[in-house]
Amino acid sequence: MEVKLLLTFPVGIEDVVREEIREKIDSCIIEESPLDTPGKLIIQLPESKRNVVSSLRSVDSIMDYLGSFKVDKDKSALDKICQEILNIDFPEDFRNASSFRVTCDRRGKHDYTSMDVEKAVGQVLVDKYRLKVKLEGFEANVFIEIVEDACFVGLLREEYLRGRYFVFHHPAAIKPSIAYAMIKLADVKPGMTILDPMCGGGTILIEAALTLSDVKLYGFDISEYFLEGGVLNSEAMSLSDRIIFKKVDCRNLSKIVDFKVDRIITNPPYGTKPIFKINPRPLYLKCLIEMSKVLAKDGKIVIITIKPDCVKNALDKAGLKIEHERTVKHNDTNPEIIILTKNG
Ligand SMILES: C[S@@+](CC[C@H](N)C(=O)[O-])C[C@H]1O[C@@H](n2cnc3c(N)ncnc32)[C@H](O)[C@@H]1O
Repeated sequence: MEVKLLLTFPVGIEDVVREEIREKIDSCIIEESPLDTPGKLIIQLPESKRNVVSSLRSVDSIMDYLGSFKVDKDKSALDKICQEILNIDFPEDFRNASSFRVTCDRRGKHDYTSMDVEKAVGQVLVDKYRLKVKLEGFEANVFIEIVEDACFVGLLREEYLRGRYFVFHHPAAIKPSIAYAMIKLADVKPGMTILDPMCGGGTILIEAALTLSDVKLYGFDISEYFLEGGVLNSEAMSLSDRIIFKKVDCRNLSKIVDFKVDRIITNPPYGTKPIFKINPRPLYLKCLIEMSKVLAKDGKIVIITIKPDCVKNALDKAGLKIEHERTVKHNDTNPEIIILTKNG
């Protein structure tokens, strides 16, 4: 038996997602950007391999794919969704479940709420399958995702939830999927030393530890509090012995680091959150000069920021040049991932 799964990932890392699917799962991509919705793709694989998808680090969420269709923005969409749900043949394990709930996630402007959708679809399924609705402790979770005029229907499953390590929530954490993409783009080789000099809750280093075995990982931050968060997150994933965390001001990097670093992969503050009272332009200039000093000759810096102009402003003084640049979507922002190498 084959199953179809809908994967959701950050727009801008499609190549990384395709490559990870090719590496880890023997499955085929049957549709990219279904209903013209970027950041989604549908794969088909044997049911016996269903659990392997939880190892995918480049995707944000996974669900069993049951169907998709276009919807209007006005309330007529509710009738359309109910009609489409009636036509979907729900799988046997759903039909045999003792209870279920419907969860709707909606992005865009609509004349109906997510709760309207949950209620309407819940009623259709109760009438059709005679199942009991339970909002807590349910056995099956029907997921309706509406992105503007595209509606996706699926089933969320516990086994798709990947190892979550955010026991500590950094206020400016990046998504693990984006951290994974940065690590893949860094082209790390065995034996290399990787540093995140502004590591916060440790997302980049934890993804590196999960992805790469033979590497040395260092995480620095100016804040003791965030460093402790990074340690907690790494402990939650049993990775604390893989990462050395240390309180360091990146502006003094070359005075502290007495070795060469092969890859610096980092997410500096953007200066937009009131808790980080920084001016990004001088901070990026000083930090990039320092990063360049500790970078190995063939080293690379992979940096993600919504302030690419502050990176570009520092290039000449830091002796760095741009090797690669791309825009990705991160929640409501569109930061750039920039790869830098030494100039000459
Ligand atoms: C955007 S956050 C990093 C979040 C991290 N990528 C995560 O997912 O948790 C930027 C971090 O840079 C740190 N930082 C700011 N100025 C710094 C400096 N001069 N040296 C080192 N770290 C600094 C902040 O404390 C903050 O934790």
